[in-house]
Amino acid sequence: KLAHTTKTAVLAGMVLAGGILTASAQTTLTVTHSSPADSHFGLAAAAFKKVAEEKSGGTLNVVIQRMDNEREALESVQFGSQECAMGSAGPLGNFVAETRVLDVPFLFDSYDHARGVLDSDVGQELLALFPARGLYGVAWMENGFRNLTTGSKAVNSPEDLRGMKIRTMENQVHMQAWQAAGVLPTPMAFSELPSALQQGTVDGQENPIPVILSNNLDMMQKHLYLTRHVYSPGIFVCNPDFIAGLTDEQKAAVEEGGKAASAANRARVEQDESAGIETLRTRGIEVVEISDRDAYREAMASANAGFETQFGAELLQRIRDWK
Ligand code: PAF
Repeated sequence: KLAHTTKTAVLAGMVLAGGILTASAQTTLTVTHSSPADSHFGLAAAAFKKVAEEKSGGTLNVVIQRMDNEREALESVQFGSQECAMGSAGPLGNFVAETRVLDVPFLFDSYDHARGVLDSDVGQELLALFPARGLYGVAWMENGFRNLTTGSKAVNSPEDLRGMKIRTMENQVHMQAWQAAGVLPTPMAFSELPSALQQGTVDGQENPIPVILSNNLDMMQKHLYLTRHVYSPGIFVCNPDFIAGLTDEQKAAVEEGGKAASAANRARVEQDESAGIETLRTRGIEVVEISDRDAYREAMASANAGFETQFGAELLQRIRDWK
């Protein structure tokens, strides 16, 4: 159970109302995110803080903290030892299994397609499943299309991936897809990735441009392949009991803050996608455009039958056909 009620009792804010100073109670809301402050999630958290604090009339005090282990952040929100978290939806399927459908490789053709689906009934239907699993989904966010990077080993075609150890998120769907391509997927929290790359425990990793840029992964990798093999959604969740304990004004402030966070997050992903690849090239990593993405699609295709069984061909088609 959250300790926010005790935090609420603290008389933290002095509001000047009609010339009279009145003490006002403030509720502290800690939101963790998984990237540096100057990144697609860092800026989203800052946008949330600004709007949620303003719209709550100063009764919400949003504290932003960095926490690289996204699975642990979700567990803490579910357990109630922290109020909210935002980050990639990588480990989300371990909490709300149905969201794994979004992790299917080559499901989305473009950012417009992915955002359209998340903003549609499909996104809302998935968010509606969260409370039964001890989470409240404030908003879908975005991590971006993931790309492969490697150290010394070059990948001239998907054939070269066979037998390579690639760090993946703790995400079953991603792991199944990489296995289909002959890779030995090595799931680990992002916090463990730098040492795994440096020690050669893994041959490479995969992440969106905003993550590669903001975490300087190019300093640890030689090749960046623009495979864009899977869209990586982001998610902003809070503890349902915490939300239930808020006033109506505070609840509305969280929702408004969530929209502002999502907009700031998407804007930064766009900026990183348009300018970041050139920045990375200038910094020295070899950037390889993939002319034959279908070859990667085919390399992972033997996992598709399993995905149809897990998620249903109808839902997958509904997502693919989104217009
Ligand atoms: O690869 C991951 O684990 C995620 O993409 C990350 C970097 C934690 C998102 O911020």
